[in-house]
This record gives sequence, structure tokens and C-alpha cells, in this order.
Amino acid sequence: MTAQQTVAEEKQGMALPQPSVSGDMSVEEALHERRSIRRYGDAPLPLRDIGQLAWAAQGITEERRGLRTSPSAGATYPLEIYFLITGLEEIPDGLYRYVTRGHRLEKVLSGDRRGDLFESALYQDAIMSAPVVMVITGVEERTARRYGQRATRYVHMEAGHAAQNVSLQAVALGIGTVVIGAFDDSAVVQALRLDEGESPLYLMPLGKQLDNS
Ligand SMILES: Cc1cc2nc3c(=O)[nH]c(=O)nc-3n(C[C@H](O)[C@H](O)[C@H](O)COP(=O)(O)O)c2cc1C
Repeated sequence: MTAQQTVAEEKQGMALPQPSVSGDMSVEEALHERRSIRRYGDAPLPLRDIGQLAWAAQGITEERRGLRTSPSAGATYPLEIYFLITGLEEIPDGLYRYVTRGHRLEKVLSGDRRGDLFESALYQDAIMSAPVVMVITGVEERTARRYGQRATRYVHMEAGHAAQNVSLQAVALGIGTVVIGAFDDSAVVQALRLDEGESPLYLMPLGKQLDNS
């Protein structure tokens, strides 16, 4: 691969495998099994699973209007989904943004950035143990244009919807996760170089479940 190809690929990001819309576990079973998991096994997360989790969070399920797996106040879609990836063979280390139209990842930052996020999240070990950390952010302005001050509440509610979808999808895939709300907002903004007006809402470390967890 030439250096030019590498730059081009990094700009484009990568297509994710098509999400599955059926599975072996019922919603009831996933609800029953869900537990916060903070330690993960060494097995890598396949790109297919990352795509499935992205889809569970914000995947488009109705192309014409762009409606998604999670509800959104007035379909204003203020959430963004990122994946901080470390040590996977299929994807170089870095921060990737989920592009809903086209179901793909776009590279935002290169390199191993887990240490910065770990520090920002008050040194919670789950972050360092996970090969993938999903970061859910909100751009309140998108919802405030229509709903004014009520947007703050709506955006937070939406993060809950997306995180719960991901939590249940993770159970069905044999992946452990926990929703992390305890972090230093400005440190996360800095670590991930988030744009002005974009706030981190949840961190979700993701890793294959340990056999005994
Ligand atoms: C808003 C919110 C913030 C949370 N923040 C953290 C966190 O920062 N770190 C953590 O380990 N767990 C966090 N949790 C997970 C809770 O500790 C966990 O859900 C609770 O102990 C119940 O356990 P369960 O999820 O296994 O049912 C958070 C949960 C919620 C709903």
C-alpha cells in the first residue's frame, strides 16, 4: 500500500459490514442478562460487532427520512457516536466517528489515545481494559433550533436511549459494557478534540466478556 493510498483511506474511513436485523437472543433474555461489566477478555472485537453496536446506537432503519434505531426529539438527531479503538488487527488505532448515512467509520484522530481518555474518566480501569470505547456526544444546537431550552433535557434523554440500545445489543453479542458518566467534561473534549458545541455524554467501554463474568 502506498503512502497516498493510506492517506486517502484514512480520510474516507471504512465501510462497516451490513448490520444484522435478527439474532439468537430475545429482547427479554438480553434485558434479563444485562449487567454492568468493567473487565474484558483479550479476544479482539471484530469490525462486524463494532458495526452492529454503532447501528444499535444510531443506525438508519428508514432510508427515506433517515429515521434511526433510537428515537430523537423531532428527528433532530443531536447525537454523535465515536469509537476509540486500540490494538485491533482490522482497524488502526485511533478515534473514529460513525457516519450514519452509508454505515461507515470516518477517522478523526490517529494513534493510541486510550491513556488520555482513561485520565479524563477519573482513571476508571474499564477504559484501559477495553479494546473499544464508544463515546456518545451531543450537539445541543441541532435540537435547540426547534425546542429552545428544552433541548438540554431532550439530548440527555436521547443519550440514554442510545446507550440502552447498545447495552442490550452488547449482551446479545457476548460483549461486556458499562455506561460511564463520571468524567471530566473538558478533559474529554480535549482528549478527543471535540468541536465547540459538542459535549461528551457517555463513555461505553466495550470488550468480549470474560468467561467468568
Ligand atoms: C447515569 C449513569 C452514570 C454511571 N456512571 C458510571 C461510571 O462512571 N462508572 C461506572 O463504573 N459505572 C457507572 N454507571 C453504572 C452503574 O454503576 C450501574 O448501572 C449500577 O451499579 C447498577 O448495576 P448494573 O448496571 O449492573 O445493573 C453509571 C450508570 C448510570 C445510569
